Amino acid sequence: MTEIYGETHGIKQSIISTLERIYDMSVPHGQTISLELAGALAEFTTLLKREIAVYINRRGLIIRITVGDARTVSLADPEGRRALNRLSGIRCIHTHPGGDSRLSSVDAASLKEMRFDLMVALGVGKNEIREVSFGYISGYKQDSYEIQTVGPLDINDFIQADFNYLVSQIERQLENREKASELLETERALTVGIERQGDWDIHDSLTELGQLAETAGAEVAGSVWQKRSQPDPAFYIGKGKVQEINLLRQAKGADIIVFDDELSPAQQRNLEQALGSKVIDRTALILDIFAQRARSHEGKLQVELAQLKYNLPRLGGQGLVLSRLGGGIGTRGPGETKLEVDRRRIRTRITEIQREIETHKKHRKLHRERRQESRIPTIALVGYTNAGKSTLLNKLTDASVLAEDKLFATLDPTTRKIRLPNGKEALLSDTVGFIQKLPHQLIAAFRGTLEEVVQADLLLHVIDASHPQYQQQSDAVYEVLKELNAVNAVNAVNAVNAVNAVNAVNVGKKPIFTVFNKIDKQDNPAVIERMLREPSSVAVSALTGENLDKLLDMLEIGTKRYSRDAVLLIPYAESGLVAELYETAIVNRTEYRPEGILVFASLPIETRGRYETYVAGDEYNV
Ligand code: GTP
Repeated sequence: MTEIYGETHGIKQSIISTLERIYDMSVPHGQTISLELAGALAEFTTLLKREIAVYINRRGLIIRITVGDARTVSLADPEGRRALNRLSGIRCIHTHPGGDSRLSSVDAASLKEMRFDLMVALGVGKNEIREVSFGYISGYKQDSYEIQTVGPLDINDFIQADFNYLVSQIERQLENREKASELLETERALTVGIERQGDWDIHDSLTELGQLAETAGAEVAGSVWQKRSQPDPAFYIGKGKVQEINLLRQAKGADIIVFDDELSPAQQRNLEQALGSKVIDRTALILDIFAQRARSHEGKLQVELAQLKYNLPRLGGQGLVLSRLGGGIGTRGPGETKLEVDRRRIRTRITEIQREIETHKKHRKLHRERRQESRIPTIALVGYTNAGKSTLLNKLTDASVLAEDKLFATLDPTTRKIRLPNGKEALLSDTVGFIQKLPHQLIAAFRGTLEEVVQADLLLHVIDASHPQYQQQSDAVYEVLKELNAVNAVNAVNAVNAVNAVNAVNVGKKPIFTVFNKIDKQDNPAVIERMLREPSSVAVSALTGENLDKLLDMLEIGTKRYSRDAVLLIPYAESGLVAELYETAIVNRTEYRPEGILVFASLPIETRGRYETYVAGDEYNV
């Protein structure tokens, strides 16, 4: 390693080359820093008027040199750092050009975050080291590491102290604290987004991203956003913003940065290099949550497929190993603890999974056909994640579907029978919740499952009426439905940006009823009244059961729309129509009369007109 990292712009190449020679100055065992190294750091700091940092491992080798605000420069995650109750095995020694060696808050934060063996600051003035301060982790209390700082000291005193002993003492202490490892299991995340015209409000979008991060098991430490008309092709955000994130990351002790859009492989790589920390995007986060939540074999396969497709272009060169270091969000895979596959193996796996999913799809098709034969109307619940679909399904069917106050609690489709007030039955299925910017890989992978939606006779769109962004959430649902071709594209476009336009879709491929849920939490009657101006809508509380009777009445009407009972008299000359009715309608019984064939049937609404002339007179309605 001979590269100089950090803010090297404007520094002459000849100086960089001399700086690089510092890599050759190893530090003798037992010492923290050699006089020679300290002298060189003082000289360069005076010359460049910038901070210089060296990172030294326990063998005394300098593994990295950085110029500028040292702690914001990327440092590869020291191997195994997350897994141990131990220190990183690396010490950071850096200069403060102003002469004052006391540790700054950023120094302290990076000491905790990187768990350096020591964080040493050298106060430099005119080519010499005036004083030295250092800090170390002294314990763990209330979910956070405690640190101890010492100094200012004279450089000669500092050099003589035996720090190997100190480091071994600190480690022994940390090993006795079980909680140290618990802390490491929760990743602290910073969320980052850009504000663009026509997008969701950036605060809302970042709040949602934060909830997703929490659902995945992280803790949100802060967020950063920037107004931009377009994402930067190299970094997604501006370069200056990258530096700001770096500082915030260290001040907040964050170890993962989550971006609100899908990053290109190059953006992700550049950001990881510049930030020296794990960078993931909204897509990876959603995939991660899905990976955690998939229960059925098919659900797991679908998530794995989506993850593989997402990962494939993100692998570096041919044959590069995709290693899952240390786990944590963005790295989970369904049922696999270690994924070490190169592109070729990924492709083979993708083909395998696709084949298996295809088999599942065929089975489902058979089931569906059988259901269609029995002509039980099917109703699919759709809605934004957390709108209350599972709770509604439970309430209406007494089924016990997992309902949790977490995003994407439901992944696998569940279908249950419900009984309508007129005694007839219908099938109600719960599907995966939708979300804005739902990854395309997921929609593609879940197409099979989501076919329940596409094939349903009626859609029940559940909206969380107590959510401040219910309108945008509703629009996002239509976006996904459009992508699934479940609704007529023109109508879905109409629906965007206005919940009231939603019913335009009713004239599209299939009827959609809108259920405004959680009205027990919405105490402004004017808001509910406004919502209900929308045709075919009902306001309910799946939790308290309020107005569920109204909903069932609506479903009765809705499913009647699908099949209206009629008695037809088909002349013998046109008996071919009877065969056709068997195909398109529910034929309950037939009677052969001298004047023709009497057919008692339930007709799908769209075919009613076709048989109008055959409707038998009242004398046959027995
Ligand atoms: P996904 O699985 O993410 O798609 O969510 P979902 O739409 O199936 O939502 P779910 O039924 O899991 O409900 C989400 C949360 O909202 C749970 O904590 C429910 O208890 C709560 N909830 C559902 N309906 C109501 C309601 O009518 N009133 C109130 N106050 N809470 C509700």
